[in-house]
Amino acid sequence: MQYSRSDFPEGFLFGTATSSYQIEGHAFGGAGQTHWDTFAATPGNVVRAENGARACDHYHRYREDLDLVAAAGFDTYRFSTSWARVMPDGRTPNPAGLDFYDRLTDAMLARGIKPMATLYHWELPSPLADLGGWRNRDIAGWFADFTECIMGRIGDRMFSVAPINEPWCVGWLSHFMGLHAPGLRDIRATARAMHHVLLAHGTAIQAMRGLGMSNLGAVFNHEWAAPWDDTEESRAAAELYDGYYNRFFIGGVFNKSYPEVVLEGLGPHMPDRWQDDFDVIGTPVDWCGLNYYTRKLIAPANTPWPALQEMEGPLPKTLMDWEIYPDGLYNFLTRTRRDYTGDLPLYVTENGMASPDVVTDGAVDDQPRIDYLNQHLEAVRRAMAEGVPVKGYTVWSLMDNYEWSLGYEKRFGLVHVDFDTLERTPKASYHAMKAALNR
Ligand code: FCB
Repeated sequence: MQYSRSDFPEGFLFGTATSSYQIEGHAFGGAGQTHWDTFAATPGNVVRAENGARACDHYHRYREDLDLVAAAGFDTYRFSTSWARVMPDGRTPNPAGLDFYDRLTDAMLARGIKPMATLYHWELPSPLADLGGWRNRDIAGWFADFTECIMGRIGDRMFSVAPINEPWCVGWLSHFMGLHAPGLRDIRATARAMHHVLLAHGTAIQAMRGLGMSNLGAVFNHEWAAPWDDTEESRAAAELYDGYYNRFFIGGVFNKSYPEVVLEGLGPHMPDRWQDDFDVIGTPVDWCGLNYYTRKLIAPANTPWPALQEMEGPLPKTLMDWEIYPDGLYNFLTRTRRDYTGDLPLYVTENGMASPDVVTDGAVDDQPRIDYLNQHLEAVRRAMAEGVPVKGYTVWSLMDNYEWSLGYEKRFGLVHVDFDTLERTPKASYHAMKAALNR
């Protein structure tokens, strides 16, 4: 690595991230069925119809996985708690699920790792999906109950907690584009899910404040939207994309408002009296997390609202076909402070890339991932040099895992996983990070 720990201020926290359904093995420990299980079981949704039933078997191998986190010298581990493991029907606690997260927490602390929890990283219990899932306003209350249940057990030992991973994915990707569970393509469902996911964020923050917890945050995914060409139409299309991808969610939480350009399309489909919910949505938090991977070039399109399309860009791409654009991370860090969060601490809560990694003679040469991480750390340093209060950087992901609708094909890990034998092999990027963190 070009950068090492000593290039960052004392106390800057380096971490790595995973999520429950992507690694644990959902078949184990009495977890309930989720909308991801049924989405994956429906032909055409997921590559080879793969699901998270076994995944990385982290449920049984978490000790060796946390040994890898600790041996690399990471300060934090960002993990998530599966709602359906903790409450298989969405409402009734499962002692085995609570025990698992209790063991996991203690195993982190025993290794000197700070636990950064995410309450929801997308596996909604099926019985709640049956009731309309994120379309149903009642989910804000169900989610607060889940929050109290799991954080009542492990909240005393968390370094930090964020309720929802990437509200855009919960709302738009899953209800408008249909690419994630529940696979809907419906504008009314989308408007409701986008609002309710923020409402649930707020009720969860309030539930945790009620438990006396602190260091609570919000995690948003960001994609830099650039106009495809110099025309006014492309500029407007990119502004709209930026509106419903980025500004809707972070603006809801920090500015208690939604962008006008987004309401032009979603307004008629929003739930009644949505304007009255901003005091809950905007419940103060202690930090803001940014997940960042890429940018999109946006052009107008001849369709109903939002009447735009993503164009193929010229930059080098990862295995996801995502352009590598570190300036986007710098842009978001500076803009977030300027327009939304002021002096609040910021964390990069996800950043990383997929590559076609193979094990050769016991090693994995993933130099492109090392380059990617270097370039994005450089962007973080640039923002920090301008006074942006970035307090930590988190690599997605500790290990190869279930990449949602792309199954096990897209490898994001610092550690390679053989999905037949489940053997873990640290890649060159893992060794490079380890050397950087110990310098
Ligand atoms: C993020 C998700 C994470 C993983 C990475 C590649 O959007 O939070 O689960 O899929 O992208």
